[in-house]
Formats: sequence, C-alpha cells, structure tokens
Amino acid sequence: MINRRKFIRHSVLSTGAILLAQNLNARIPSTNSFPLVISTWAPNVKANKVAWEVLANGGRALDAIEKGVMVTEADPDDTSVGYGGLPDRDGNVTLDACIMDELGGCGSVMCIENIMHPVSVARLVMEKTPHVVLVGRGAFEFALKNGFKKENLLTASSEKFWKEWLKTSMYNPMDTMKHMKQKRAPGSIDNHDTIGMLAMDVNGNLSGACSTSGMAFKMKGRVGDSPIIGAGLFVDNEVGAATATGVGEEVIRMCGSHTVVEAMRYGKSPKEACQLAVERMYKLRKNNLNDMQIGFIAVNKSGEIGAFSLREGFNYCYRSGEGLDVVNDAEFLLKK
Ligand code: GLY
Repeated sequence: MINRRKFIRHSVLSTGAILLAQNLNARIPSTNSFPLVISTWAPNVKANKVAWEVLANGGRALDAIEKGVMVTEADPDDTSVGYGGLPDRDGNVTLDACIMDELGGCGSVMCIENIMHPVSVARLVMEKTPHVVLVGRGAFEFALKNGFKKENLLTASSEKFWKEWLKTSMYNPMDTMKHMKQKRAPGSIDNHDTIGMLAMDVNGNLSGACSTSGMAFKMKGRVGDSPIIGAGLFVDNEVGAATATGVGEEVIRMCGSHTVVEAMRYGKSPKEACQLAVERMYKLRKNNLNDMQIGFIAVNKSGEIGAFSLREGFNYCYRSGEGLDVVNDAEFLLKK
C-alpha cells in the first residue's frame, strides 16, 4: 500500500497526467469511450502508455496489448513478470502467458524458460500453429525456431531473494512474497503481481493478454491461472473481456475470467460482473482462503470498465479517449 502511494505520487510529479480516482464510479468512462486500454496494477501505467501509442494510431487491439505487456516483461525491477521474475524453489525463472484476439483466436505458453517475451510466443502459438497451448521445453524450442533469443532471466536481485529464501525454504509462497516485500528498499514499486491487459481499438474490437512469473519460489512445474484461457483471461468480442490477478489456484477453480465475461453477457456491468466472480469464489472457498488476494478487471463492448477484488489493495490503471492515465483502487469484498 505504501509503495502504491509512492508510485502514484511519483507518477503525478513526473508526468502531470495521472488522474487519481478514489471513488471508482467517478472516473469510469461511460460509453463509446474507446479506444481504451486497462491493466492490472498501477505500475503498468508504463505498459498502457506503449499500448496506447498503437491504439491512438488506429492500430489493432491485439498489437497494442502485445506491445504493452512486453514493456512489463522486459522490466528487471518487476519481480513477478518476465525478466527479473522471482524463480521457482530450484532457482528456475519459469514464465506463463496467454493472449486472445477479437476473432476467437487464443494462444498460451506455460512454464517457458529463458525467453524474455512469453506473450509474443503465445501470439505465435495462436497464429502459426493449429494449437492453443505449448508448455516447457516444447514452448522454448518453438520460440527459438521462431527467432527468439535464449536469455538468462534471473537478475542478481532476484537471485539474492531466492538465496535468502533458501535459508528457510519455507513453502508458503504468498507469505514469502509478503516477507520479501517488507524488506524492499523504500519506494520500490512491487505491490502487484501478474500483468493482465485488455484493450479496445478504434474499430471497437477487443483483445487481451496476461503474463507472469507466477508465485515466488513455487514448486517446479507449477502453473497458475495466467496462461489458462478462461481463468486468467477471456475475450469474447461480442460481449467483453476480463483478466485476473492474485492467487491463480483460486481463479482456476472457478474459471474466473470466463465467469466475468458470461456475467456481462447476461447483463451485468463490468464492475458487477467482477464482483459476482469474487463473491462466487468467496462463497465456495471462504474456509480456505487465509489472506489470499484475487482481483479482476473487465471491459464491455460499450467501452465501460470495472474491477473488483477480494481484499483491499488491488488497483488498476487505464487510458481512454480522454488520453489521460488513470489509476484506481478497486472496490473489494472483505471490509475489515
Ligand atoms: N496470478 C498469477 C499466478 O497465480 O501465477
């Protein structure tokens, strides 16, 4: 929370173009406000900016979200996505990503190593293969065959955190993350995880993508919701799109993003649809959640956006026809 506030203050000072909306409803574009781009977590303002350049030039939503997500994947300071992501418990940085376009196309890579941009590999799976998912070694070899470079994604800083974790090897990834975050340098921007990004282009077409290194110090081979179509991401160009963040196991159990899109199909607003999904998950799992977080963002075909999370602390950022970056705190279910 402290980090989020620092980020926002820094952003306002440096760009002068961030709107802060404490009241969720106050800043939501009503209708016909596309093009637009919305991402999980405030630090992804920088990813929205790059996506927006594509959208503002009349580009396709699919190109916008790929380019946007690549920004976060390449950021060594983001310890939950791409380069610099915290490794699994054996020290391997394994990445998950998926992408969906306006034509019902989708592609995904799971547990891919040594490739900086899993979102782009996921796009190639969608566009160049008859399949939807490639995993592990197969995904890596497919990437190499398509011109991607083999790269070491474990930064010195992430390696240091991993080595510190090895001293106890306490296998509770969420608690470990919290402990690590408390030890970060003041002002560091790490109150977030997965990037999920949704965009609507000038033609009103929707696309989305999701990318993560998953839980810190996870079991080798563990895959969360982010690369799973319908869980971490779902796009239906007739209805809307949704993406998730937080503890992937909980999102997978109730096909989270698909649930959000289906709720919009049957008349819920994006925020109501995100809330419905969180409430359904809570009803099913309230005795097993401990202090886990999940959150959703969504956009409908009219260009309305919404978000909702289980607990306080989830935020998101968007840019719409107004051309301003907006960072919002999501409404949440469990009030203290
Ligand atoms: N939401 C990211 C993960 O659980 O891997």
